[in-house]
Amino acid sequence: MVMKTDMLRQWLFPSARLPSAAGKRTRPANTMPPMRVRLEPTLLPPGEAFTPTQPKPGRRQITGRQAELDRILQALREEHAHVVLYTERGRGKTSLANLVIETLRQGGVIVARHTCEAGSSFDSVIRGLMRDLPRSLLAVAANDPAEIGCEAALPAGDLRPRDVVALMSRLTCRSLVCVIDEFDRIEDPGTRTRLADTIKQLSDQAVALLFMVVGVSENLEQILGQHPSIQRNLVALHLPLLTDNEIATALEKGAREAGFSLFPSIVERVVGLARGAPHMAQLLGLRLVQAASRRGDAQVAEADFDAAVDQLLAEASPSAMALYASLLAGESAAKMVRALRALAGAAQDPWGRIAILPSFRDGMAVGESYIRADEWHRLLDAQVLRPAAGAYGLYMFADRGFLHLVLLIDAQMTPLATPAQDFASAGLHRLASDH
Ligand SMILES: Nc1ncnc2c1ncn2[C@@H]1O[C@H](COP(=O)(O)OP(=O)(O)O)[C@@H](O)[C@H]1O
Ligand SMILES: [Mg+2]
Repeated sequence: MVMKTDMLRQWLFPSARLPSAAGKRTRPANTMPPMRVRLEPTLLPPGEAFTPTQPKPGRRQITGRQAELDRILQALREEHAHVVLYTERGRGKTSLANLVIETLRQGGVIVARHTCEAGSSFDSVIRGLMRDLPRSLLAVAANDPAEIGCEAALPAGDLRPRDVVALMSRLTCRSLVCVIDEFDRIEDPGTRTRLADTIKQLSDQAVALLFMVVGVSENLEQILGQHPSIQRNLVALHLPLLTDNEIATALEKGAREAGFSLFPSIVERVVGLARGAPHMAQLLGLRLVQAASRRGDAQVAEADFDAAVDQLLAEASPSAMALYASLLAGESAAKMVRALRALAGAAQDPWGRIAILPSFRDGMAVGESYIRADEWHRLLDAQVLRPAAGAYGLYMFADRGFLHLVLLIDAQMTPLATPAQDFASAGLHRLASDH
């Protein structure tokens, strides 16, 4: 049976109104059909596609972080809980905070933000937050013309937690989210206690003002201090590293935006060097496309990877280089190189912690590798590694930059463009090519 198109549509969508012939829109005979314009994507300069020195400003630039965004929004919107977002430096806290703020504002939520400095105090943070709000939100008159934004909602003199609790009655918005970034930088211990007291009072009195506190820390106590009574009033999120897939996506996205393409082998090497650190993916991505662009090629080649590694090592921190050299001084340099390599490449948990356990051979076991007691103690003494807070058998690189240095040196020893069989022969190759 052959059904007519109109009959078929009516049968599938009975409630849909079929256009009657009379209602059909026809184009006046003397007009041109609409032109289809194919928009070519505009390319970004490499330094905008890859941003190693800046946080990502919002959703379009960020890779991953959906689960973390959802959790934070759920805490703020549904649970009316304050949020603490913490992790190591350079892992994407500010970028995620930008994404949270963008999403909240798009949903009509009023957000104030303030970035702390070493000398910040409770007073300067709260005043900074109020200055970030438009004056139109003031429910009280601002008498002092010098006052910026909603500063007039605050009393003069030293602020106390109860002044923050009273704030909402002086603003016209029904709810407010206050984002405080780099909270860990504040040196004054009193500020931490006052903020914790404020969170407690706001929660107890169900005031619609929520804080999102962002900072470098390994755990909640380090950032907000010991304040057990506020733990149930807040959601603490320990931001993980990106996954390897996300690192690859971030790298490919940046390259595409700058008009470059990457071989899978190069993406794989970058993923291995980044070990989940978004900052490293941005930095390597930038150096790769800069190297390709110097050659006038839009295809990043293996020689560009080697050039990027060389440049990162040439720009590495002198103190990290000196530490590396001091660890290798002595007779067992090869063993130390092996130990460092095993640690830098070891399986890690989502926060970059490595399981290291005593070995039955009187040293330490890292995955399949073995570190002799001598090297292990030297590494601990030199503070290359430290135990992760509150987790038996888990260790972290005290400075993650050092982990990347080890991997970069390793990559320089085994260049992509001139493959070498192993570390020893690569070393010989380099020595030979130096002469
Ligand atoms: N989700 C992400 N996707 C891609 N790049 C990211 C992401 N998060 C952070 N970055 C990059 O990583 C680096 C550190 O990010 P940032 O947000 O400043 O970290 P933090 O605030 O933890 O120090 C920056 O170069 C930033 O561009
Ligand atoms: Mg930051």
